[in-house]
Amino acid sequence: MSPPPLRILIIGCGNMAGGFDAGRPADAPPLTHAGAFARHGGFSLLACVDPDEIRRDEFAARWNVPRNAASVADLNARRGDFDIISICSPTALHPEHLAAALELEPRLIFCEKPVTPGLAQTEAWVQACEDKGILLAINHTRRWAPDVRRLADELAGNAWGRIRSVVGHYNKGILNNGGHMIDLLHLLLGRLELVQTGQPSWDFWDTDPTVPAMLRAGDVPVSLNVAHAADYAHFELQLITEKGIVTMEDGGMNWRVRHAIASPHFKGYHALNEGTRTAGQYPQAMLAAATNLHAAVTNGDALASDGRSALAAQHICEQIRLSAIGSAST
Ligand SMILES: NC(=O)c1ccc[n+]([C@@H]2O[C@H](COP(=O)([O-])OP(=O)(O)OC[C@H]3O[C@@H](n4cnc5c(N)ncnc54)[C@H](O)[C@@H]3O)[C@@H](O)[C@H]2O)c1
Repeated sequence: MSPPPLRILIIGCGNMAGGFDAGRPADAPPLTHAGAFARHGGFSLLACVDPDEIRRDEFAARWNVPRNAASVADLNARRGDFDIISICSPTALHPEHLAAALELEPRLIFCEKPVTPGLAQTEAWVQACEDKGILLAINHTRRWAPDVRRLADELAGNAWGRIRSVVGHYNKGILNNGGHMIDLLHLLLGRLELVQTGQPSWDFWDTDPTVPAMLRAGDVPVSLNVAHAADYAHFELQLITEKGIVTMEDGGMNWRVRHAIASPHFKGYHALNEGTRTAGQYPQAMLAAATNLHAAVTNGDALASDGRSALAAQHICEQIRLSAIGSAST
C-alpha cells in the first residue's frame, strides 16, 4: 500500500511557487514547487498563503488548493497540519516565514534560495531547523538535475582526468545568482576558497552587487566573470580538463562537450574535436527535487541540497561581497 500523500503548505504564490508553470503545457516538465508536487503524485497541496488576493485566488484555482489565506496567522493552522512547508515568498520575508513554518512543526521545509539575505541570519535558521529536528531543503535547483549529478560523479571518478581550470559567468547578484554558481561549484569541485575580487557592479539588486572573483578549489583555479542583468540572463560554466572541455550553457538548458583527439592537422599534437551540443536536464530538476523530498520524509534519504550546503555557499558569497565592497550584512 502506498503511503498517504504528504500534506503541503506553500507560502507565497508567485513565479517559483507555481507561476512559471501556469502557462506551460500540462505535459511539460514542471519548473515550480506546485508543479513538481502535483506531477509527483505523492503530495497533496492543502493550503497556500499570499497577501495578494488575485495571485492567491488564481494559484488556488490553478493547483486545486482547498485552504488559502492572506497570511500564515490567518490560516489558523495547527502544529502538525502540514508535512512540508514551501517558502516561495520574497527573500526578505524568508526569516519571518521560516519562523512561522517552524511553529507549525512540519517534517520538512523547502525554502527558496537565498535562505535569507544575511549570512548570520541564514546560519541561525539552519541551526534552528536542526535544533527542532525539521529537515531543511534549499532550492539550489541544479543539485537535482540528473546531468549535473552525473558530471559530479564523473569528475569525482576521474573520468575527465585532472581539472585544469574552471570559469563561471553570472549576473544579477553574487548572492542571488552567484549563490547558485558557488553552490554548483561546491558540488562539482569541492570547497572553494576566495583568492581575490574585482570591481563590483550593481546590475539588479541594490544590496547584492555582481562581483568578478578569483577562487580556488584545492589547486584548481576558478574564475567568476560577470555579465549585466539588463542585457540577458547569463549563467554558464566551463570546465577545462585533461580530457576535454565541458560547458554548461543557458543555465543548464544545454551542454557542449568537446574531447581531446589527435590533431587532424598537426602530426603528434592533440586538439579538441568539434564536440556535441545536447539539451540539458535542468527541466527535470524540480520533479527530481520533489522525489528527493518525498524520500527524505518517508524513507530518511539524504537531501541533495540542504541548509548546510546553502550556508556554505552563502559564506563564500558573503566573503566575495565583503571583499569587493567592504561592509558587513546583517
Ligand atoms: N531557485 C531558483 O532558481 C529561483 C528563481 C527565481 C526566484 N527564486 C527565489 O524564489 C523566491 C520568490 O521569488 P519569485 O520569483 O517567485 O517572486 P514572485 O514575486 O513571483 O513571488 C513572490 C510571492 O510572494 C508573495 N508575498 C509577498 N509578501 C508575502 C507575505 N507576507 N506572505 C506570503 N506571500 C507573500 C507575493 O505576493 C508574490 O506572489 C525568492 O526567494 C527568489 O530568490 C529562486
